[in-house]
Amino acid sequence: MKHIFRSLRRRSHQFALRHARQNRFFSSVFYAFFSRRFDREHVGVLQGQQQFSISNGPEGSCSTTLRRNTHRLEKGLIMRPRKDVFALAYIEETIKAYQQSVSHANGQANEEICWAHDVLKDYFDVCGAHPLIDRLRKTFNSIPPLPLRCAPDRAKAFHPYHRNLKAPASVHYDELLKLAERRRSTRWFKQSPVPRELIEKAVIVAGLSPSACNRQPFEFRFFDAPGLREKVAELPGGTKGFANQFPVIGVVLGNLAHYYDEKDRHVIYIDGSLATMSLILALETLGLSSCCINWPDIEEDEIRAQSVLNLTTYERPVMFLAIGYPDPEGMVPYSAKKSTEQLCRWNYLG
Ligand SMILES: Cc1cc2nc3c(=O)[nH]c(=O)nc-3n(C[C@H](O)[C@H](O)[C@H](O)COP(=O)(O)O)c2cc1C
Repeated sequence: MKHIFRSLRRRSHQFALRHARQNRFFSSVFYAFFSRRFDREHVGVLQGQQQFSISNGPEGSCSTTLRRNTHRLEKGLIMRPRKDVFALAYIEETIKAYQQSVSHANGQANEEICWAHDVLKDYFDVCGAHPLIDRLRKTFNSIPPLPLRCAPDRAKAFHPYHRNLKAPASVHYDELLKLAERRRSTRWFKQSPVPRELIEKAVIVAGLSPSACNRQPFEFRFFDAPGLREKVAELPGGTKGFANQFPVIGVVLGNLAHYYDEKDRHVIYIDGSLATMSLILALETLGLSSCCINWPDIEEDEIRAQSVLNLTTYERPVMFLAIGYPDPEGMVPYSAKKSTEQLCRWNYLG
């Protein structure tokens, strides 16, 4: 009986799959009734959006909106030629986010608020006359200035600026190439502890990576405490055979609460990975090696990770990262790379 039921289920699944491939409507029906493989992403994206709204609500910090809109204003400020009046579609939202961020910060201004303040000031200084802008300029000027002592680096101004390009980049191409050649996914490590300061130094470099609208929708969590490290290291399947080798495991955690719309649901993976690459290279310069560990979307693993890492539905690991001092006795795979010809095409339309 069980056998017949299983066979019927498999056949109906295959039948549905054949039709699902034909068009978007049938594929939606398939994923609604025959496969649940996307439903965690659906609920994660929707709950992330809800969290985004809460963050913009009366009790929220408005941080994401402030970051994104400040960035948009800066782009407007550096335009050549710059428009006399710009950002009409979102300046009201930005002022509201700024006001709320200031009151939420409770006198503890951080770099984000100082940056928003300086950019808004520039904006109102250069923007031409317009009833909306004139009204919001008054609102902005009425917000009490931030106490200087609260901002960590308030001697600095957080404006768009000209980079000093007179001196060449201090890292030569050949040096970067050598670093890239030296970096290999490492699975065998010395059993010596890794100073946390070194990892935090690498995070400083990672934190300077580009991210869509400067939202930086990720965080790095590192585990080096005995017991906890092992628990986290065993979450991803890709550590089999060397899960007990690395003294530190990192988790790159994406947060979907930074987005109001489904269109951005993949950005956590893009931004998180760009920052991770910088982190990996920075670690290498500090004598540390690493290995990215895959985090495929597998139901049981997700449930375990949610419980071990205490995650919400809108937080998701982008990948894990094994870190430590490389064991000189341990080998690394050759892992042949594709040629430049394979990776690079010019003016090619497919
Ligand atoms: C996103 C990602 C996931 C990976 N997952 C694993 C993994 O689960 N286990 C593992 O041993 N290596 C993993 N790797 C390492 C790759 O196998 C390795 O990067 C690739 O073979 C190239 O070798 P190289 O990093 O030494 O250049 C992963 C790498 C990336 C970028």
